[in-house]
Amino acid sequence: MLAANRTALVTGAASGIGAAVARRLAAAGDRLVLIDRDASRLSEVAGELADAVALPLDVSSADAARAVREELGAGGALDVLVNAAGVVVEPDDDHALARTLEINLAAAVRLTTGLVPLLRRAAAPRVVNVGSVQADRAATGSVAYAASKGGLHAATRALAVELAPDGILVNAVAPGFIDTPMARLADGRTEYETDWFQSVYLEHGRLPLRRPGTPEEVAVAVSFLASPENTYVTGAVLAVDGGLGAAL
Ligand code: NAI
Repeated sequence: MLAANRTALVTGAASGIGAAVARRLAAAGDRLVLIDRDASRLSEVAGELADAVALPLDVSSADAARAVREELGAGGALDVLVNAAGVVVEPDDDHALARTLEINLAAAVRLTTGLVPLLRRAAAPRVVNVGSVQADRAATGSVAYAASKGGLHAATRALAVELAPDGILVNAVAPGFIDTPMARLADGRTEYETDWFQSVYLEHGRLPLRRPGTPEEVAVAVSFLASPENTYVTGAVLAVDGGLGAAL
């Protein structure tokens, strides 16, 4: 059971995992504040939900935390923060490194620390970061992305330690292959339709559950870590990867 009248902020809420998290928290009765830089898709998602406000902005802007503070008002409380906004920038060069670290890592840390005063006012404040299995295992062409997610897992642990005295629990999920727009290739196919994925991950069983996951399956894990029922898990990274990390 989720507590009634909670306020939850979800970034990257216009698509994929962030949108699925927003829908799940809204279905449990939470009031949602949604951030994404894709204003039109964000307003579509917000429009589906009973009690949601859309803040169309770039999480890497210096104003992101201030916009949330203004929305929630002086003395406002924030129960849940889910940092789901993320990018893969191609090609994997110096520009990608700076931009990816900024969005996937620095913006999430900055938003969290900028909202600590509001989190402190909540009864059971929870922060959940969306990391990746690529924090621990590399694919080619993803130095920037892997570094950003490795940093985000480390920041999750550091923030958990830092914010424990305030009763703020900070965790991450590490999704594996999840079927979202991020998994779409330049030719319009998903990476799951490639011969490489079918052969290595499905036929040869490198992915034990032999299918990509859904955004909703990630949202289930996020909602547990974000719930007041989670009272003793902090600084953890929960893999939501169909067994990918368990297989030899
Ligand atoms: P997605 O592309 O469907 O959604 C990402 C959302 O973040 C988009 O709506 C985008 O507009 C928003 N966004 C990106 N940069 C932003 C910025 N600077 N400011 C505001 N909004 C911004 O992708 P998906 O898959 O839902 O990704 C969500 C998170 O899950 C990301 O952090 C991603 O790295 C992570 N992830 C995804 C996996 C997958 O297989 N799809 C696997 C592991 C992690």
